[in-house]
This record gives sequence, C-alpha cells and structure tokens, in this order.
Amino acid sequence: MARIIRLSTPDEGAFQTTIAVPVVFDGDVAVIAESVPDELGGHTLPRDFSKEWCVQHGLKPEPGSVVLLHSFDESNVALVSLGSSYNNLENYRLAGAAAVRSAGDGSVAFFLPTDGIEYPRDAAQALVEGAILSSYNFKKPESDATFDVVPLGLPLPTVATHNLVAEGAARGAIVADGINWAKYLIDTPAGHLSPKSLAKHVVKRLDEDLYVSVETWNEAKIKEEALGGLLGVGQGSAQPVRLVYATYDPDPEKALPHVALVGKGVTFDSGGLSIKSGEGMMAMKTDMTGAAVVMTALSIASRLKLPIRITAIAPMTENMTGGKATRPGDVLTIRNGMTIEVLNTDAEGRLILADGLSLAVEANPDAIIDVATLTGAQAVALGDEVGAIFASTDELANYFNEASSRSGEQLWRMPLVANYESHIESDIADMKNIGKTGRAGSISAALLLQRFTDGRPWVHLDIAGPGRADVARGYVTKGATAFSARTIVEFLSAVGEAANV
Ligand code: BES
Ligand code: MN
Ligand code: ZN
Repeated sequence: MARIIRLSTPDEGAFQTTIAVPVVFDGDVAVIAESVPDELGGHTLPRDFSKEWCVQHGLKPEPGSVVLLHSFDESNVALVSLGSSYNNLENYRLAGAAAVRSAGDGSVAFFLPTDGIEYPRDAAQALVEGAILSSYNFKKPESDATFDVVPLGLPLPTVATHNLVAEGAARGAIVADGINWAKYLIDTPAGHLSPKSLAKHVVKRLDEDLYVSVETWNEAKIKEEALGGLLGVGQGSAQPVRLVYATYDPDPEKALPHVALVGKGVTFDSGGLSIKSGEGMMAMKTDMTGAAVVMTALSIASRLKLPIRITAIAPMTENMTGGKATRPGDVLTIRNGMTIEVLNTDAEGRLILADGLSLAVEANPDAIIDVATLTGAQAVALGDEVGAIFASTDELANYFNEASSRSGEQLWRMPLVANYESHIESDIADMKNIGKTGRAGSISAALLLQRFTDGRPWVHLDIAGPGRADVARGYVTKGATAFSARTIVEFLSAVGEAANV
C-alpha cells in the first residue's frame, strides 16, 4: 500500500536513488550543512547557494521547494528547502513529500544532518510521514520505491543518534501507513464499502495488532443493546447496520489512563428523506471518516506500543431513503434512554454518535473523544484546512492544542454556548436533532452530543471541511485526508507520557 521504509548507512543508501539534501535559508542564501559530503552524485556541492543562483534555479525559501540536479551516470541530487530552521517538524513533512515528488517513481535517500538538530528522532519521523503520506495513490496502492533516512554527522553520527533516527523513521512509517490505510477506506466508493464490509476491513487490520480485541455487533445485537439512533438512521437502507467495538490494553495489571474514541461511520449520506441535492451527496462516501480515524488511531497506538488504554467505538450505517426510512417528525430512543425528535433526517451523524457516546460512557473512560464529518456549518466557518474542536475542559483543549501543533493539523476551538441549548429543545422529546436554521449549526450539534457524555471530560472534533482535500497540497493528497488521526495519536502519546512520570 505504501512505500517501504528502509534505513541505511550512507554507503548503501546513496546510489541508484535520488539523494535529497536539505537546505536551510539564511536570508536569501540557501545553506547546506557541514556534514553533507562535498561530492555527491557526480556533483560538487558548494556550502551555500547565492540568492541569484536560487532565483535562477527556482529554489525558494518556502519549505518543500525543491530543485533537482540531474546526473547522467550517478544519483540525481534534490536540494530541498527546510525553510529557515532545522527544527520545524511540519517543514520536514513538506520536505519529505517534496523529495518523493522530485524522485518520480524512484527511491529516495534523504540525507539528514543531525549536528545541531534539536529532535533528530522527531525530524526523521516527520520526514517519513511526509514521504509516505504524499505517495498515497488510490489507483496504485503498491510501490517498490524506498525512502531511506540517512543520518549525517561530523565526522559521523553517533550510535545514539543513529538509533534515534531509526526509531523516528519506524514511527513515521507506522503512523503514515495507518493514515494511508484509513484514506483508502474513505476513498473507496460506498457501493464497494457497506457498513458490513467496512467493519470487516477494520477487524482484518485490528486482528493483527497486539493487545487489541475487536468485535463487530450485527443488527440483532444492536437491537438487543437498544441503539435506537443507529437503528433509526439505518432502517432506510438495504444494507444492515454494524458497530465495531475495539479495545487496546497493553497492561491490564496497571491502571493506565483510559481514553474512549467514538467515530461517525456513515458509509453514504444521501440525507435520507430530507434528501440532499445531487451535488451535495457527491462526496458523501467520505462520511465514515470518523470511524476510519478512530480505528486507525487505535491500531497505530498499538503498533507504537503506547502506554495507555483505549476503547474505540464506531457505529456504521448508510443514510438512505428506503420505504422503512425514518420520517421527519419521528422520535428515536437512544441507548441511554434519552429521546430525540428527528426533524431533519440529514442530521443523522449526531443520532448514531449519541448511541456511540452512551456506550463510551459505560466503559468508564477518563476522557471521551469523538470524531465526525458532522456539519456543513463547520466547513463554512473554518474551510478545508482547519478542524473544529469543542472541549468540555481547558485541560483537554490544551492537550489537543499541543498535539495539533506537533501534527500540523490545524484545529480551532469553538464555544459550547450554554444559551444555545434552547435551539435543540423539542415539544415532544428530550431534544430535537436540528438547531436554528443558518445559526451556529456546528455548536447546536456539539451541544446535542455533549448531552450523551454524562459530564465526562470530552472533546468533539468536527472535521466536515478538512476531511477531504479538493486539491493536493504539500503532503496532503487529493480526496480523503483522514484528518485528525495524527493529532489523536499525538494526544494519546502525550497522555501516556504524562501518566508515566
Ligand atoms: N455529513 C453531513 C455533513 C457534511 C457536509 C460533511 C458537507 C462534509 C461535507 C451531515 O450529516 C449533514 O448532512 N449535516 C447537515 C445538518 C443539518 C441538516 C442540520 C448539514 O450540515 O447540512
Ligand atoms: Mn447528513
Ligand atoms: Zn452525515
């Protein structure tokens, strides 16, 4: 599915591949680190490139700008901009992606100068993440190309540095392969990915992961467990509903911090009887992104051996218009006994998440995180590159703020406006599933979800906008992004680290 990552010493890695050499800009001058050999791929490299040279060859200070020095009988050398510092993780991701792009279908040996770098392990991880994420291709999932991170130092990198770089590269591969797996599911047409087959794909992957147990609930079980939101949304579809319930617990003897993840798994959202326009449903195979995100986050956490306990829950359904479909005005009873008047069947995500959150509460976690392509209003407010975060505590908001600055996935905190609770009052049920038309639609959706969290520390990520990219940019490929999965993994590692001290 993705590029194979192999770590090598300069001697074995440097040939028959594109050698990527980072440059860092000092004003208008591009500077190469001392530890990079002067003679590379048949080129003699100066230590710096003047402004004139850069302008002439199109090497710009923007991170990820690249110029390829061709070589006829040896390796091509790609000069890749890291911006103005060796210590910016996002710039390493952009540089990894740029190196891969300049190598075409070929392999890359990325020379990583480690002298004076603050975090060689994180730098290597970011490079590999950028490389693998950017080489995702739905039509051509397999590739033999390799991406090697070659640590450099003067005279040589220490063994310790070597090991850090190896560890970072391995982590980057785990993370990015997990994201690409999720992107592949998300990009798969809904006609080829029913709730049932989505559950199967998830089980197939998680079955290989250590300390993970996973079960799929079928319709009978879901009825028995009284998941009235999920059943209500699913009843208009010929495809039966599913729910995947997965846990990861690397050390049951210890009281590890326990995080519950809940993801929206609508494999196709037609809107139901409150039907969407043709245009409005064109990308609605993406509506199971939350489910893919939480399941890949759990899988990545297991592969990274994070010292934390996770419960991941994903209700899966289609939202269709069949003869048994829920009608506007119907009332559904959620798992926890609360009732919701469905005035718009297109506001279906909150109905299935209400069940998912109720189940999460029963698992007694320290925090609950839910992820959903929930509201068009989120995309209107923040666009395609920024997700909305709602947090019930400042502590959780701070954790996510830090995690998002490490992942490069931008989040903006939105308020849980208490007065807007009135927007979801219902005359005949505990609440209704829509707020005021054209008014704070993401907030009323979040307020509804919060009612199912039983006052626990909770974060809601609405990723309707950044869940898809309409054009490729940097290391983000066009189509599915699995946005927020890397941030959640960063959050989970931070929680594990905090508990470990
Ligand atoms: N899945 C959609 C939200 C969505 C819209 C995601 C665009 C990605 C891109 C969700 O189920 C939905 O239809 N929400 C409605 C809610 C409304 C009826 C209250 C919306 O936002 O229009
Ligand atoms: Mn909808
Ligand atoms: Zn939806």
